[in-house]
Amino acid sequence: MKVGIIGSGTMGSGIAQVAATDGCGVKLFDTNNTALDKAKTSLEKILARLVEKGKINSEEKSRIQNNISYVNNLKDLSDSDLTIEAIVENLEIKKKVFSELETYVSDDCIIASNTSSLSIASIASALQKPERCIGIHFFNPAPLMALVEVIPAIQTSKEVLEKSVQTISDWKKTVAVAKDTPGFIVNRVARPFYGESLRIYEEGIADFATIDHSLKTLGGFRMGPFELMDFIGNDVNYTVTETVFAAFYFDPRYKPSFTQKRFSEAGYLGRKSGKGYYDYSEGAIQPTPKEDKELAQQIFDRVLIMLINEAADALFLNIASAKDIDNAMTKGVNYPKGLLAWADEKGIDWCVSKMDELYNEYHEDRYRCSPLLRKMKAENKIFF
Ligand code: NAI
Repeated sequence: MKVGIIGSGTMGSGIAQVAATDGCGVKLFDTNNTALDKAKTSLEKILARLVEKGKINSEEKSRIQNNISYVNNLKDLSDSDLTIEAIVENLEIKKKVFSELETYVSDDCIIASNTSSLSIASIASALQKPERCIGIHFFNPAPLMALVEVIPAIQTSKEVLEKSVQTISDWKKTVAVAKDTPGFIVNRVARPFYGESLRIYEEGIADFATIDHSLKTLGGFRMGPFELMDFIGNDVNYTVTETVFAAFYFDPRYKPSFTQKRFSEAGYLGRKSGKGYYDYSEGAIQPTPKEDKELAQQIFDRVLIMLINEAADALFLNIASAKDIDNAMTKGVNYPKGLLAWADEKGIDWCVSKMDELYNEYHEDRYRCSPLLRKMKAENKIFF
């Protein structure tokens, strides 16, 4: 299969590596020659490291490298069977590139976007044949993360969806098919991990270290929410939250937090700026979490139930299947368990009563229990 990748930055070069590893002929396109050179050099380094570690041999390394050519003319992608775009996150620019690309490629070439936040329907609308457009959303770093969300727009044909799912599965990735809605699966369902933790902090219930400690020890999350926000960057994470909030017509469940906004404004971006919720300077003394079992349980239960409620609501609104929702969270963001499986384990009765407890305390729409959980409780059902 011939694959054209548009944009040779972080995501484009990672996706090129994935496709080339599978044996596809890849053309990696960028308007910026420096970006192309950088992609080539960084792939050389990555593959050399894999050889050192014994994960691939040197023939395999050459094979992957020879499968990729670096081009700076969009026309060079004309013989592609599939193109995946990973350029700047700007609707107008993406639309312009898509409509130009369509004049070069054959009628049955699939034109996909790796966008994280734009609607696939809006990007597809730039094409003469919008039914060939689809979202194929990789996670960073693309070669390491198992999950790929595949997002058909309302215009996308069944054949294009089937072919895309097949191709991505052939590339040995776990596919989760998601409806074309803000944040798709992962960036929607994961919001409470940050949002509810920030709210717990803002209410003065616990400090960053105690909240992180509770989610890691009781929940088995690899990183606590504040460590993770520091890792992602408070600016980046805040922008995603704000975009999702606006895209959901300001549903209070996705409301951003002043705390994160101020950290972002102050330049406390996290690891990359040397300071975020934690201090990353050399020799900095890290805060110790409060040892209080009851408090830790209360924090963990509150964040977990908000995550479960979000996952249940995504299923209720047919964003994806139960299996795909759980796979998305375990393979896209390394959650220790799928949230719906976790709901079954905790018990649907527990889930409903925890949500009702929060709602009764705050009387905020943010804490409304998903109708699906309530219905399942009444019918004595479980997810799996
Ligand atoms: P990046 O900034 O690393 O790379 C973008 C590349 O596109 C640059 O090399 C730039 O020269 C090139 N470019 C910009 N405009 C172009 C044009 N008109 N024609 C050709 N090339 C052009 O960006 P990154 O992080 O790789 O993101 C790309 C896309 O992937 C965005 O839509 C982003 O939302 C999405 N995405 C990003 C993830 C991440 O963690 N960075 C994760 C999943 C999706």
